[in-house]
Amino acid sequence: MLHKTKRMKPIQVGLLGIGTVGSGTFQVLQRNQEEIKRRAGRGIEITMVADLDLARAKAAVGEGVQVVNDARAVIANPDIDIVIELIGGYGIAKELVLEAIAAGKHVVTANKALLAVHGTEIFAAAHAKGVMVAFEAAVAGGIPIIKALREGLTANSIQWIAGIINGTTNFILSEMRDKGLDFGTVLKEAQRLGYAEADPTFDIEGIDAAHKVTLMSAIAFGIPVQFDRAHVEGITKLAAQDIKYAEQLGYRIKLLGITKRKPQGIELRVHPSLVPAKRLLANVEGAMNAVVVNGDAVGTTLYYGKGAGSEPTASAVIADLVDITRLHTADAAHRVPHLAFHPDAMSDLKVLPMAEVVTSYYLRLRVADEAGVLAQVTGLLATAGISIDAVLQREADEVGGEGSTQTDLIILTHDTREGTLDDALAQLQALPTVLAPIVRIRKEELS
Ligand code: HSE
Repeated sequence: MLHKTKRMKPIQVGLLGIGTVGSGTFQVLQRNQEEIKRRAGRGIEITMVADLDLARAKAAVGEGVQVVNDARAVIANPDIDIVIELIGGYGIAKELVLEAIAAGKHVVTANKALLAVHGTEIFAAAHAKGVMVAFEAAVAGGIPIIKALREGLTANSIQWIAGIINGTTNFILSEMRDKGLDFGTVLKEAQRLGYAEADPTFDIEGIDAAHKVTLMSAIAFGIPVQFDRAHVEGITKLAAQDIKYAEQLGYRIKLLGITKRKPQGIELRVHPSLVPAKRLLANVEGAMNAVVVNGDAVGTTLYYGKGAGSEPTASAVIADLVDITRLHTADAAHRVPHLAFHPDAMSDLKVLPMAEVVTSYYLRLRVADEAGVLAQVTGLLATAGISIDAVLQREADEVGGEGSTQTDLIILTHDTREGTLDDALAQLQALPTVLAPIVRIRKEELS
């Protein structure tokens, strides 16, 4: 075997877009080339790179690699077996991925946005052409969560997944809690330190996390990728005082990507969530990522690591290169299916609307501090069939003249249907003693 490994010519890889992750991929492949060759059965070499910035590309790869500014020249090169797409976005990246597939190339991509939105089309094209599209780097960077879901946990009926899958927002939330600062202040600091992009919209609005949980949901439950059905809420409206109150009640607030199998369908959602402070997930701090997966046979498993960065993401890209190198000569029917389930065995379980999601809640009501207000609020919740788990009332603040006071009333509910809660909140909001918009944050016990 070793003899054969030495003789086989390296598999040739073309790289589209050599920024942070592309440079890391190049470096790790070079540094660990002997180890990687012993694992893959033959060498893996990036022989051609396309980037609009030729000078940057040349500086990143050194001698001996063909550098061009036309990605299509890479796709057209008959010697290239695998194309790595690290351009990002849904525009030109989509055209190039489809063209690479049409040219019979296997594709490795870190592009979660592309696959979450256009995955059905891309995987169908790859299936028809008999090529692989691998995307370990698209979800949680260096954590091999796609491998775990598609292969390691294949015996299980997966029940649910909950993950901190966006490092930027986890960094911001950690800082808000540590320093008691508000969102805007921490965002500026995160941008200054390079943790947040100049345009952080995809991260702070939960879109990046929703792309990732959409992909995990598809491979966990064997459903098509359906980003348009995901419920997406970011962290921009989160107030420092809710982080503080949550802490007093024994919880931390994290931006979670959640997908669950329910008898009626699949829950697919991203939003800030209270998580019990004693859970491992609640203690994932800074820019780190972590994903919890619950399977019926294995129980709960946890995957933790760096969700972004040059070499951590390169680690995932190269794992895909090795997989393809091992499998590209195998009959396509014998490879691991793109979405873990065979394309003719996909489930038509629908993604549930939020009104049908069942979870528990943290509510903060700014109320007049008068006799009977608490009874009124709890009475209305009782009438709606919403059971209360805990109540916290802060000391009243004196507001205005004549001794009129207001207070924050914090209520934790037991599990309830979101549609039922929406109706009850509309009624509570209409009470004259409720003085400001009610804050509602979902809560996940993860037990
Ligand atoms: N911007 C992402 C994050 C990394 O903050 O985790 C790439 O998806």
